[in-house]
Order: sequence, then structure tokens, then C-alpha cells
Amino acid sequence: MVVSVPGNYPGFAFGDKICYEDTRDYEKILEIARAENIDGIVTTGTDVAVVTIGKVCDALGLPGLSFEAGKVATDKMLMKQNYEKHGVRTARYRRISLEEDSKENGAAEGNKDFQIIKRLEQELAGLQFPLIFKAVDTSGSRGIVKAENSSKFAEAYQRVRENTRKDYFIVEEFLEGEEFGAQSFVSQGKIQFILPHGDYVFQGDTGVPIGHWAPYELEQSVIEDAKEQLQKAVIAMGLDNCALNADFILSGGKPYVLEIGGRAGATCLAELVSLYYGYNYYEKIIQAALGLPVDFASQEANPNVGMLLRSEKTGSIRKIVNKNDREDKQIVEIQFDYQAGEQVQAFRVGPHRIGHVVVKADTLEEARAKMEEALGKIEIEVEEEH
Ligand SMILES: Nc1ncnc2c1ncn2[C@@H]1O[C@H](COP(=O)(O)OP(=O)(O)O)[C@@H](O)[C@H]1O
Ligand SMILES: [Mg+2]
Repeated sequence: MVVSVPGNYPGFAFGDKICYEDTRDYEKILEIARAENIDGIVTTGTDVAVVTIGKVCDALGLPGLSFEAGKVATDKMLMKQNYEKHGVRTARYRRISLEEDSKENGAAEGNKDFQIIKRLEQELAGLQFPLIFKAVDTSGSRGIVKAENSSKFAEAYQRVRENTRKDYFIVEEFLEGEEFGAQSFVSQGKIQFILPHGDYVFQGDTGVPIGHWAPYELEQSVIEDAKEQLQKAVIAMGLDNCALNADFILSGGKPYVLEIGGRAGATCLAELVSLYYGYNYYEKIIQAALGLPVDFASQEANPNVGMLLRSEKTGSIRKIVNKNDREDKQIVEIQFDYQAGEQVQAFRVGPHRIGHVVVKADTLEEARAKMEEALGKIEIEVEEEH
């Protein structure tokens, strides 16, 4: 059974029963899960339903993360709090309350900013610039603002305020370094594997991932270190049975945990795991959600690259031409989410994707070259709206 709000979501094709509900409404979803007497519950690629999954797993005694862990995994403040308590390597941070500015009400705009700056300077004393302001309940870099110095505080504060539904946020030390992601799975509290990957990023209003590659070249000692941090982090968060989507920054030769989600990554990251290890990762995620024993070990390690197809314009698709050879063994998948005549958006964020391409090869270099070639043979013409 598939539960989701209506939309152009590929998961619907797999449900023998479909139910249109908001997956954030955990009381409602629990009611449905009870009525259906489900054996397991699972999501992928988004945090939207993670708390709900926790609620249902707790209530029905299903494998999967708990309600508490679901909340921690979707609140950057709770995450940091737990990391600090358990000694996970992560950027130092402070919790800051978003005040009603009652005192400043009626004050001139400049004066209000001055008061905010003064308060933040006090509360952030001891942290090193540059800093990064973060709404705790968002994703996709919404409400995340870097501040080089205190003159940016008022603006950053307002940006966070516009993007959060909470009455607090966090400020972290900004780590200079190299960002990378990792897919992983935790069973019975133990990390089963870690697959670091590189991310292609589109610079829109913020950086948006549009593709990934694996393996990400890191020294074995760094990978082991990242795995250790991940192991500590999942214990800190109480994640004991779920896929993991982790962000790291390699700073001063050491991996720091940025954040960890209790589900597999989006933009073809589950596909990347499947290809790399030569098995169906989705199948294993589902087996684990059903409480079946799952072995994530593999002898394979296939370099691969995945990339979203995007439109530069908003309008209707006039034609789609794909001149790639269907017999090409290095091309794993080319998927179009839309057909000619349908409306698409100029790409700004992940959901504006119009399809994807996945390729593999014996080496990462070859895979990269193949991706370029494959993209060159795809032509999507969009007639702009006026
Ligand atoms: N402490 C930090 N140091 C350096 N860069 C950071 C830090 N925190 C976040 N970032 C940057 O901001 C991006 C978004 O932050 P993140 O906490 O991952 O939130 P989101 O849920 O939006 O992905 C990160 O991918 C990274 O590029
Ligand atoms: Mg992130």
C-alpha cells in the first residue's frame, strides 16, 4: 500500500492500494496502518514522513526507527545536542531563541537590528567566525545563512525567522573543507556499511544536489574514521534500524558530522548504492523494514554516476529526443518523468527534476565520460511560457 499526497510520484505505480493522505499526519497514518494490519513501513529520499514512521513503528511494534529518534533526525538542534553529549565530532554550536522583539516593537528598523546584533554577540561569544545560522526544521538549505562577521547577524536572523516554524534556531562554527555524503544502514544499532559519495551541486538560491558519484576517493583511514563517527552518531540519535543519509565535512584531515537523516538519500542515491554493490538496495531496505535478516555485504564495487535531467525554462515540453544506444551496457537507466506536451519548471530545487540518467563503468573516469556523452545525446526542448 502506498500513502502520499497526490502528485507525480513514481511510488504510486508499485502500490496495489493507494491512499491519498498527508504522511506528516501521524495519527491518521497510524489509524490506516492499524486498519491495514501492516507488516512494515518505509520511506526514502525525504524526511517528510520520518517522524510518522517512528510513531507507527512504536505503536505497532514494527522494526524501524522510534518516534523519539524520528524527531531527533528531523531537528538539527536535537541532533547537535545529542552529538555533543556523545562526543561525536561536529561543529560547535549554540541554541538561540527567536524572540518576539517585544522590546523593539515600534523601534526604528536600524535600532531593532542593533539590538539583535548586540544580543547575538553576547550569546555567540566563544564561537569562531565564520558562523552559520540554521533553521532546525528545514532541508535543502532553506534558512541556512553564513555570517562572516557580526554585521551579518541581523540579516541572517531574519532569514532564519522567515524559514522556520520553531521559536529557536542554531548557530554553528563554519567548517572550511571538503563536503561529502555517505549512504549507510544501521541494523540493531550497528552500522552495516558506509559508502561515501561525491555530490554534483547546482547553484540556485542555495546549493542543490543534482547528481552523485561513487566511489568518493578518500583515504581508507578517513573512511574508517567517518564510519566511527557515524556509529557514535546513530547511537546518540537513537537510530537503530533504518537507512542513513549522512553529510560530512572533511576539515583539517578529519571528517566532521554535519547531519544525518534516518532514510536513504534522494537524487538517485539509493540507486547509487544498488549499482555500487551490485544488489537491489531498495529490496534490502524493505526486507529490513519487515524485520527479515539482511546482509549488506558485497564483493562488488562498481564506479557509477547519476544525474538529474533538468529544464532551464518553465513551460511545456515540445519534444524529447534520446539518441543513446539502448544496448549500451554502461547506461544503466534513462528515465523521463514527463512526456511531450506536459508542463515543467525551470530548475531551482530537486522536485523540479524532469528525469534522470545513471551510468556505470570499470573506472570512475570512464563513468564520468559516459555521463557526459549520454547527456549530450538527450535533447529536451521546452517552449517557454509568456
Ligand atoms: N558547520 C558548517 N560548516 C560549513 N558548512 C556548513 C556547515 N553547516 C552547513 N553547511 C553547509 O550548508 C549546507 C546545508 O546545511 P545542512 O545542515 O546540511 O542543512 P540542509 O538540511 O539544508 O541540508 C551543507 O550542505 C553545507 O554545505
Ligand atoms: Mg544537508
